[in-house]
Parts: sequence; C-alpha cells; structure tokens
Amino acid sequence: MQESQHGVELIRVSREYTRGGEGVKVFDDVDLSVKPGAFCAMMGPSGSGKSTLLNLVGGLDRPDSGDVIVGDTLLSELGESDLAEWRSENVGFVFQGFNLVPVLTAYENVELPLLLTGLSKAERKEHALHALELVGMGDRAKHRPGQLSGGQEQRVAIARAIASDPGVILADEPTGDLDFESACQVLDLLGRLHTELGKTILMVTHDPRAAERAERVIHLDKGRINESPAAPDDGFREVKPKEGEGA
Ligand SMILES: Nc1ncnc2c1ncn2[C@@H]1O[C@H](COP(=O)(O)OP(=O)(O)OP(=O)(O)O)[C@@H](O)[C@H]1O
Ligand SMILES: [Mg+2]
Repeated sequence: MQESQHGVELIRVSREYTRGGEGVKVFDDVDLSVKPGAFCAMMGPSGSGKSTLLNLVGGLDRPDSGDVIVGDTLLSELGESDLAEWRSENVGFVFQGFNLVPVLTAYENVELPLLLTGLSKAERKEHALHALELVGMGDRAKHRPGQLSGGQEQRVAIARAIASDPGVILADEPTGDLDFESACQVLDLLGRLHTELGKTILMVTHDPRAAERAERVIHLDKGRINESPAAPDDGFREVKPKEGEGA
C-alpha cells in the first residue's frame, strides 16, 4: 500500500439542521486543522456533532457555509457523483456496529467498495486480500460476518475501509460495541495504520482509554471545537483567516 497522506481543514464551517421547524446549530463557524498523517480522537457529549464532523470530512454531508478541504480537494467544488468517486478513493469509514453485509463473505465485504473504483477484478482481489492480511483476517476471507466475533468483524470492517488505500480513515466509536481485549486489538490496528501506513485518522470515542491512543484529543461541545490545553506538535494547528478576509 502507498503512503497517501491527507490533511484535513475545516475553515469557518457552520452546519445547522432543522427539526420540527426549529433550527439545531451543530457547528457555528468552527475551524479545525489536522496535519497529514495525524491520529486524532474526538470526544464530546451525545449530540455535540461528532458524527456530523466525520460526515462533513468524508463528504457525506455538506456545510451550510465554510470550507472543508481534505488533502488537495475542496469538497464544495465537487458535484455529487465526483464527490462519491472522490470518497471511494480517499476516505475509509469504520462504524461502531461494523455495518458488514451479512450475506457476503469477509472477502466480498472488503471487495464491495472497490466495485465503485476503476480497479479490474484481479486488482480488486489483490487489494482485498492484502487488506484482509493487514488486519490479520487473511484466513477468514470465506467466513460470513455471523461466523466471526465482534472484534473480528470490526477488523474486516477496517480492511474494507483501507482496501482502496485511502488517505483518511474516519472511525465513529469503532470500539463502542467491543469487549476490552477486542477493543485493544482494534486500537492497535488503527495505531499501526497511522504509524506504519501514515493514514490520517479521526476517531470518535467516548472511552478515555481509547482516546489516549491518539496523538491529540479534541472536544466538541455546544457548536464549538475545543483543543485540549498543552498542545505540542501534535497534528493540530490553528487556522488563521487569510489576509484581507474579515472574521
Ligand atoms: N440528518 C439530520 N437531521 C436533523 N438533525 C440532525 C441530523 N444529523 C444530526 N442531527 C442533529 O445534530 C446534532 C449532532 O448530531 P451528531 O449525530 O453529530 O452527534 P454525536 O456527537 O455524533 O452524538 P452521539 O454521541 O449520540 O453519536 C444532534 O442534535 C442531532 O440530532
Ligand atoms: Mg455520533
């Protein structure tokens, strides 16, 4: 796999949802800058916008105003089909509930997102098997999700997320449904994707022990993104408005 590092920038991003005629402001003019190859944990109360932030970075949702830049790509410049194509090549998602397709084998689950890319069948096979090997599930390629433990399912889901060799991994409470030992294995794996493959990882977690694995923990609350105090060279830097632009 290639090292394909992507930084992430949110510049004055606002996002509001309307529910029952009332506006719910999730983000109000927030800035965030994540260096290429950083491993960041995101914490915050339920409803603070953690999943919304991942969706904005992964191009599953769009801000009302402001810019989201991932690698060299300003997402707002992409139309829906270009955005879907960009996503399939650049972003891997990992979810709390694994989200594997139950009737497909581990191999077929990992190959699935590659069908959206221009890869040939032989290339898809090579990528999918390589990803399964990387997560230590090469010997389970023919198993269906129901024949795997939760930890093994999540490792297959991580293989699916990295199969297209994306620069960014977005993980939404990836250890939330796992026992302690399986959670540790998944966190070890995410750590290796960061240190060995240089993936940029944004991981939402409620578990302070999981957050400790990251280089940096950011906190979301009440429409704001707060960085932890004491920030060494940790994958984050402030985004300053460009000269000539008002705040
Ligand atoms: N598609 C949507 N339509 C309307 N409201 C939404 C939508 N998506 C999110 N919200 C609202 O935006 C706020 C942030 O939601 P989000 O799912 O990002 O929170 P979260 O921090 O991930 O919470 P949790 O820890 O419970 O997963 C919540 O008030 C939620 O109800
Ligand atoms: Mg959430």
